[in-house]
Amino acid sequence: MFTESVEKLASILKNGGIVIFPTETVYGIGALATNTEACLRIYAIKNRPSDNPLIIHFADKSEIEKYCEVSSLAKVLLNEFSPGPLTLVLKKKNDSLFSCGLSTVAVRIPDHIEARKLISLAGPIAAPSANPSGKPSYTKMEDVLEEFSGKVDGILRATEPSYSMESTVLDLSQEKVILLRTGSIDRRIIETRLGIQVEVLESPEIISPGMKYRHYAPNGKIFISKILPSIQEIQSKHKILSNHFGNSSDKSISKIARIGFGMSDVSNFDKMVFNNLDYMKSLYKFLLDCDKTNIEIIYCQEPYDGEFADTIWDRLNKASST
Ligand code: TXA
Ligand code: MG
Repeated sequence: MFTESVEKLASILKNGGIVIFPTETVYGIGALATNTEACLRIYAIKNRPSDNPLIIHFADKSEIEKYCEVSSLAKVLLNEFSPGPLTLVLKKKNDSLFSCGLSTVAVRIPDHIEARKLISLAGPIAAPSANPSGKPSYTKMEDVLEEFSGKVDGILRATEPSYSMESTVLDLSQEKVILLRTGSIDRRIIETRLGIQVEVLESPEIISPGMKYRHYAPNGKIFISKILPSIQEIQSKHKILSNHFGNSSDKSISKIARIGFGMSDVSNFDKMVFNNLDYMKSLYKFLLDCDKTNIEIIYCQEPYDGEFADTIWDRLNKASST
């Protein structure tokens, strides 16, 4: 069911259903976090590895305190960055929420009015990103409908994600503040604003199960370059003879796509971006469209140094790893 009614979707959730809803980061596929059976259905729909825990979405801070130990530092972070694209891994207070058998839960208050309304009507919602495991997170309703129509019990039509990139995940369950996933808030913004240090691990997968899986991988091969080559240069390097500048309905010649700042010969498949923020917001949709148009060779320009560079680099490295 595709609807604008948060009331209808809240009642579906309360009856054990699965719904998709937008947040300010990406679309989430959610179940009531207190209903284990419903949460497990999400894994089947997404084909998600069973040891990868879900983020629990809350409407406000006082709700989080009912289920989790909120340290004074966690309070400061929540006050400063919530609602917003920051997820905190906290120690559980009780076993009411689905937690994949861990002693911690990841919590987040989305900065999205309709999503928060849904949560406040239904209760805390466990929701990973709404995409088949291994694909880029979905940022547009058209892609959600194409993939999930008929597979879930409801889909909320509301404001589309604005960051189009997942939340930043911090582990606060230990002595140090540890970055588990770089995302829509740059680590350095958190450090500067709060005067704290955020540890970056060599191997975050030791703590965060989701980090060990291959993510965000399009079917085409990704090349990362400092300056984007022209289509002609790519064609000769990869020995492609066909004329690239076709329209997107002609799939046989849609082989090359590029994303980056500088292009003088932009084709239908290329995405020109103007700064790192624009790059971050465009990346997932670009990668997804590459698969839809059967792109085989994907050139991604290195981001500029500075804000959002870490997040873009992280996703480019994951998308290009085999
Ligand atoms: O922006 C977002 O965070 C989106 C929207 C829907 O909120 N959600 C999202 O969820 O990206 P997902 O499942 O795709 O990513 C959640 C990440 C995974 O890497 C998972 O391993 C980690 O958070 N995570 C969840 N619970 C955890 C826990 N208790 N300890 C460590 N990592 C955890
Ligand atoms: Mg995900």
